[in-house]
Amino acid sequence: MGDEVKKGLLGIVVDETTISQVMPDINSLTYRGYAVQDLCEKCSFEEVAYLVLNGDLPKKKELKKFKKQLEENRNITINLREIVKHMPKRSHPMDVTRTIVSVLGLEDKETNNNSPEANMKKAIRIFAKAPTAIAAFFRARKGKNVIPPKKNLSFSENFFYMCFGKVPNKEIVKAFDVSLILYAEHSFNVSTFTARTITSSLSDIHGAITGAIASLKGPLHGGANEEVMHMMNKIKKPENALKWINKTLDKKEVVMGFGHRVYKKGDSRVPTMEKYFKKVSKVKSDKKFIKIYEIVKKVMIDRKNIHPNVDYPTGPTYHLMGFDTDFFTPIFVISRITGWSAHIMEQHAANKLIRPLSKYSGPDHRKVMLLNQR
Ligand SMILES: CC(C)(COP(=O)(O)OP(=O)(O)OC[C@H]1O[C@@H](n2cnc3c(N)ncnc32)[C@H](O)[C@@H]1OP(=O)(O)O)[C@@H](O)C(=O)NCCC(=O)NCCS
Repeated sequence: MGDEVKKGLLGIVVDETTISQVMPDINSLTYRGYAVQDLCEKCSFEEVAYLVLNGDLPKKKELKKFKKQLEENRNITINLREIVKHMPKRSHPMDVTRTIVSVLGLEDKETNNNSPEANMKKAIRIFAKAPTAIAAFFRARKGKNVIPPKKNLSFSENFFYMCFGKVPNKEIVKAFDVSLILYAEHSFNVSTFTARTITSSLSDIHGAITGAIASLKGPLHGGANEEVMHMMNKIKKPENALKWINKTLDKKEVVMGFGHRVYKKGDSRVPTMEKYFKKVSKVKSDKKFIKIYEIVKKVMIDRKNIHPNVDYPTGPTYHLMGFDTDFFTPIFVISRITGWSAHIMEQHAANKLIRPLSKYSGPDHRKVMLLNQR
């Protein structure tokens, strides 16, 4: 075995997957063989969640059953609701989200059962309950009453309802649904690899998702959608955008929402999300962010040939929808729970302990001196 260090596992293929395929050369992303753009236009988020978890698009009856399962599992315990209500108000919602999944693990009677059947049931419970608890924190930290889930609403409608007490118009709900579809799955990214690594020691799904959430929080991964909004707020108005981006690049600073480890010619999810960002801007009669968006994007491509990633359009879209900036990444979580769960189940089905090697570069062998001799 060679001694060459592949820092960041750059270019290393560590396993096979049947869940999604990223083809950077042709800007393509497929879930279980279906192009993500096609899924966004023809399916609801629930259909895509079913696809990611089960491997195929649902038939009518299957979708009905899946929706019912989600509806039946949406309620959280009084215990969890009280924990969320008593979390420090200054907590970052991603830390709260991480804790929520951890508590769900404490409450779940099947936590230590890693059979495929139990894992699927647990995945559905986490997927159904986490949004309820996240929405509870969204309101509780503002001193507002917690709103329980409502029957006969879609996944996206219900999330809006639990956060704001009402469901917005269809175009806004569709844009949110599309963002969730685009966030659902993305092969061996950092958080998914984290989930698979945790699983590879035969640990449980709640632990693996808790670890994945910690990994997603970082600004080089999911946390980028929040950073994009901070950047837009710093720029303030379109007239400032050109000067700001040129100055930032002159200082050789990283611009959030741009670049990708795999896609070097553009992220396949961006055109679809951009389209829905524009629709939401129109509905909200707010063109400020779209103008800033276009100016920064053009300079990044012209000067650096670095393209936006999906977090660039989702950030301002979620802002226009009314979500607090630090809730953008928890929204990413509620969708990615599906992808993580599918990977955790895939890892369990053909497990091999993930344990890479390292090249030692510390001191040579040394003799231990007694305390009074050092
Ligand atoms: C995502 C990311 C970590 C990928 O990193 P990577 O594959 O390791 O690529 P590198 O960081 O080595 O980038 C290669 C070069 O492009 C530059 N670059 C990459 N992304 C950049 C960005 N967003 N802004 C400015 N320069 C960037 C790097 O500075 C580096 O330049 P150099 O060769 O002169 O040092 C990186 O693009 C980044 O930090 N982006 C911003 C965070 C973000 O949006 N994350 C969400 C990802 S979906």
